[in-house]
Amino acid sequence: MSDTTPTWREHVSVLYDSPTIAARVSAIGREITHDFAGGEPCFIGILKGSFVFFADLVRAVDLPLSCDFIGISSYGDATESSGVVQITRDLGTSIEGKDVLVVEDIIDTGLTMRYLLENLATRRPRRIKVCSLLHKPANTKTPVPIDYKGFEIPNAFVVGYGLDFAGRYRNLPFIGVYHGPT
Ligand code: IMP
Ligand code: MG
Repeated sequence: MSDTTPTWREHVSVLYDSPTIAARVSAIGREITHDFAGGEPCFIGILKGSFVFFADLVRAVDLPLSCDFIGISSYGDATESSGVVQITRDLGTSIEGKDVLVVEDIIDTGLTMRYLLENLATRRPRRIKVCSLLHKPANTKTPVPIDYKGFEIPNAFVVGYGLDFAGRYRNLPFIGVYHGPT
């Protein structure tokens, strides 16, 4: 790592730089535009991790759409899944009869997405699709369908572009591997 790296991010090495992410997001946006053509999907961002990806993704989709957010937490400040999932902020609108696209930053064990999909299904949407920027297949505990996937990554802890470690690093414009103290 270069001598000029600011101390606050000296434990992070770049995995996907910002042009690489932008190219992938625009490709996914085109796919979604094609698949949902004629409809008016509701994009549901999972807070907090998906907020950066979500903001770029909606601008890459050329359709009328609505946005809502749900806060879910399955992690404390640890880098291992606790398996405990909690809704920290609920949707502001009804999704009954709607085409829903759930937008997540990363699917690791799958426990969070499994819980969320079961919860959202009880609200009777017309259909639910899943879009995740990252997928860590090595840690799968419960398989979940991922209709749109940004990158499949190795079993490392990643930060940046919305993803955090202990609340930090969400504002990095790239996705990097965290290899500092845990
Ligand atoms: P899962 O329930 O194990 O699939 O975990 C999903 C959630 O854990 C995501 O929404 C992230 O907030 C968090 N998470 C999992 N892996 C990472 C990572 O490598 N970096 C940052 N957050 C992660
Ligand atoms: Mg998180």
